[in-house]
Amino acid sequence: MEKFLTELGNAVAKAFKEAGYDENLGKVTVSNRPDLCEYQCNGAMAGAKIYKKAPIAIANDVCEILKNSEAFSTVEVCPPGFINLNVNDKFLADYISKMAEADKLGIENPKESKRFIIDYGGPNVAKPLHVGHLRSAVIGESIKRIIRYMGHEAIGDIHLGDWGLQMGLVIAAFKEANPDLVYFNDDYTGDYPEEAPFTVADLEEIYPKASARSKEDAAFKDEAMACTKKLQDGVRGYRALWKHIINVSVTDLKKNYDNLNVEFDLWKGESDVHDVIPGMVKYLKDGGYAYLSDGALVVDVKEETDTKEIPPCMILKSDGASLYNTTDLATIQERVKEYDPDGIIYLTDKRQELYFEQVFRCARKTGLVKEGTKLVHIGFGTVNGTDGKPFKTRDGGVMRLEYLIKDINDKMYEKISTGREMSEEEAKKVAKMVALSAIKYGDLSNQASKDYIFDTERFMSFEGDTGPYLLYTVVRIKSILKKFTENGGNPEECRITSEISNASHKNLLMKLSAYNEMMEGVFEELAPHRICSYLYDLANIFNSFYHETKILSEENEELKKNYIALLNLTLRVSKDCMDCLGFEAPERM
Ligand code: ARG
Repeated sequence: MEKFLTELGNAVAKAFKEAGYDENLGKVTVSNRPDLCEYQCNGAMAGAKIYKKAPIAIANDVCEILKNSEAFSTVEVCPPGFINLNVNDKFLADYISKMAEADKLGIENPKESKRFIIDYGGPNVAKPLHVGHLRSAVIGESIKRIIRYMGHEAIGDIHLGDWGLQMGLVIAAFKEANPDLVYFNDDYTGDYPEEAPFTVADLEEIYPKASARSKEDAAFKDEAMACTKKLQDGVRGYRALWKHIINVSVTDLKKNYDNLNVEFDLWKGESDVHDVIPGMVKYLKDGGYAYLSDGALVVDVKEETDTKEIPPCMILKSDGASLYNTTDLATIQERVKEYDPDGIIYLTDKRQELYFEQVFRCARKTGLVKEGTKLVHIGFGTVNGTDGKPFKTRDGGVMRLEYLIKDINDKMYEKISTGREMSEEEAKKVAKMVALSAIKYGDLSNQASKDYIFDTERFMSFEGDTGPYLLYTVVRIKSILKKFTENGGNPEECRITSEISNASHKNLLMKLSAYNEMMEGVFEELAPHRICSYLYDLANIFNSFYHETKILSEENEELKKNYIALLNLTLRVSKDCMDCLGFEAPERM
């Protein structure tokens, strides 16, 4: 379906043309003075320069014709030459009624479907998830859903940090405590035990200790590096132990991501490209891209237009070891080979911005990706506590994501179960849904690149710009529709008519009419926060309508059905928005 603003613009463009001016001047936007009018066109101002004529004269010429247009109820010229427009009720209602009948609420499928890989989550094996991991998972999941909703293909890859020194550290520490285990016996040729010799809790204790120790104890660090090398060289016992670390860790990660309603298509990791690195390095050398600088292998990535220093992209360290860059470049090569994507989108902390700039330039310059393949890094800001400093537990430790989610679930359960008649089972389920909306909306409603304050109390509130408020609004609509059904009506059979009863009714229609345009913008900018602000506006506008209008008690049956159809449409739009954000509303709360 054509966007509503485009339809309005077409009417204005026609008038410009008929009045003898360029039709391209007839662009319509939402009014920035809602006290004066609903929409506006500033084309007469631009026309003044072209036609060397006062803008007001042009505007008058156009308005004379536009007055007869069925699209507008009033058309006014406002000095120095603005055209102020109010939309005709029937024109608006007809559009909304078409939207209600259209596939996907009037959002057109693309002529050509594109394929994207979303690299998000990015947890490191054996390290527990903390609040910082929330953003990559939550924003990445939303972007994946938005892309799919818009009719494209999205493949989500978690890209585990499962290789390198962090693994060597765990193995070295474990070896020191259990030197006699079969994994460390080089002469052993039999099968290794199926059961892991540690639990996830053990791992979570081992890693931070080992990591801290390696910074002070040089011998231990050497041992960890030796273990890393053995692992990477494929020594059987080390590989077997590493597989246990991955399995134990991944089982735990899956549980955590499940709780967040985050789902990956691929559980690949840095280790998956280990074997293709030598080939890629050879390619970079043979192509004349990589050269030795102080012993390290690097590719220059600076460009003439740079205003800041962009250091070369390092491919191998001077000891020949690969690094983060190497696995990322090899992963790009593999993704291109396996999926031929139109774009790869990465979600990490914005501190990795320069890093990705180097990697992307390197991939492009060396032909690892095709000219048209988009490489996008979405860098997000820090999650702070209410004191404005990076989020910590009360005693200053790192807040584990698992505990944070549990805490909010518990608090929400208390809130939901007091004063409501609900079974314990239902209250638990509802609390979990509402808590998830609190966490996700709290994050997603901020522009990704900005830091934000994780304010549990505010996020959980049923009022204001919060997830629970949106859910509450949807539940309100559901409950009205349910009553209508219980009284023998069928919302699906109700149709939107051209009758508009009051200003808040019209506002609601106008907000709904902007839906496809909003979603297209969200997709182009990969900006879930714009869905949030749309949804919040929609909820506010709906609630004003609800407070000002008798719905179920409306005596005029036709009008009542018109309302019900409108509620049903508002519900569908809200649901699709929430689905793109990655949460949903319960039946009641
Ligand atoms: N594991 C990485 C980290 O903790 C994030 C991985 C992001 N993805 C990537 N392809 N580099 O920083």
